[in-house]
Amino acid sequence: LGADPADQVESGLKVLDRGYLNTACMESNITFIDGKRGYIQYRDYSIDHLFRNNDFEEVAHLVMFGKLPSPSEKLTFRRALAKGMEAPQSVIDVITAFPRDSLTFPMILAGLSAYAGVDPGTEATHHEGRAYYLGNMKEVDAAIIRTLAALATVIAITYCHKRGRKFTPADPNGSFVANTLLMMGFTKDGKADPEIEECFERLWILYADHEMTNSTAAVLHAASTLTDPISSLVSGIVSAYGPLHGGAIDLAYKGFEEVGTVENVQSLISDVKAKKQRLFGYGHRIYKTVDPRSKFIREMIAEKQDKVNKNPLLRVAFEIDRIANEDPYFTSRNLKANADLYGCFLYTALGFETDIIIAMACLSRTPGAMAHWRESMQQGPMLWRPLQVFTGTVAPPTARS
Ligand code: ACO
Repeated sequence: LGADPADQVESGLKVLDRGYLNTACMESNITFIDGKRGYIQYRDYSIDHLFRNNDFEEVAHLVMFGKLPSPSEKLTFRRALAKGMEAPQSVIDVITAFPRDSLTFPMILAGLSAYAGVDPGTEATHHEGRAYYLGNMKEVDAAIIRTLAALATVIAITYCHKRGRKFTPADPNGSFVANTLLMMGFTKDGKADPEIEECFERLWILYADHEMTNSTAAVLHAASTLTDPISSLVSGIVSAYGPLHGGAIDLAYKGFEEVGTVENVQSLISDVKAKKQRLFGYGHRIYKTVDPRSKFIREMIAEKQDKVNKNPLLRVAFEIDRIANEDPYFTSRNLKANADLYGCFLYTALGFETDIIIAMACLSRTPGAMAHWRESMQQGPMLWRPLQVFTGTVAPPTARS
């Protein structure tokens, strides 16, 4: 266990589990994933069922509050989300203070922080010095709706500022997806573009939660200190942005652009097999079979094939996939394309650039992040504080003081 085992066993059993391959950190009844079978369930429903029968708002409600909404509950949820999309001036000021060519995520993080700066729950949590949200489910439920809405607004303001577009305020009666598109300026005849809206109502269902992903765990790590949901989400977004997590999509797509044509794929594969680089968009900690979301995404790509096929990089992606499905390097390690990779082609076909795609992916995951934050507020306080195994040399007693 290191230089001075006697010091290290004082606290009893200690397990070194780098990357938490074998360690569960929460009990949860939100999402079940069977990575061997390729199956996902939110609450009591398979995503197959939800994808075919529901829209994003209904599924977000299911994930966050544990039940599909009645029509009146859906309307209340919709209006609360739209209300939460009212952008405070300080949020607009913070984001628009960035140069237009700044990276997207630092702008989003700054915008969320500005939201936290004026949110009543943040004030109550951090200034009144008590466990404001713990077990306080009425406030918890209102806060997670505000947080989801805040992220949509921050992304839209960021998007508009970067492109020099006018930011359009949300419609108080609009759906969450429609309002996100409206605020970003993806409109036709003054309303959210119906083709994109219809697509996201289904696509985002697939991403609404994915149990203990790195970013959700980051949200919960922060939540274990009893901090507020917007601040917890900031932690989650920081982690989602990383190249081995959501940020992989951007890198995968840039990799396709560098490869350029099908003829160049083999040299990329050779570099990957020689371990000179990783193939971004491939591999998954949980799935050892095809990601169950992929079939729906491919279905949606087929529906939009006239648009998607215009992108020559899709052929590059298919060629990489063909090789990955046959080459023993990939098959022996169960390395398959992850769902976000192909989802990226839908987004680009609909007019979104890769920097904002990761942000949209984060947005569609936020119902899950907030559901887990909510669950942690029901379970009671347990500060997350992992142990370490010290590998240095313990100084002799005289040098300790
Ligand atoms: N390209 C090439 N080789 C890979 C890849 C990859 N994308 N992923 C894993 N491997 C290899 C590793 O080199 C290792 O090989 P070895 O046994 O010879 O040492 C083996 O497969 C196992 O790899 P691990 O890193 O131990 O697998 P782990 O389950 O920890 O990693 C991860 C999962 C981080 C997603 C990994 O597959 C990866 O880095 N993928 C690329 C980044 C990516 O696409 N991330 C997005 C994941 S989905 C999401 O978060 C949105």
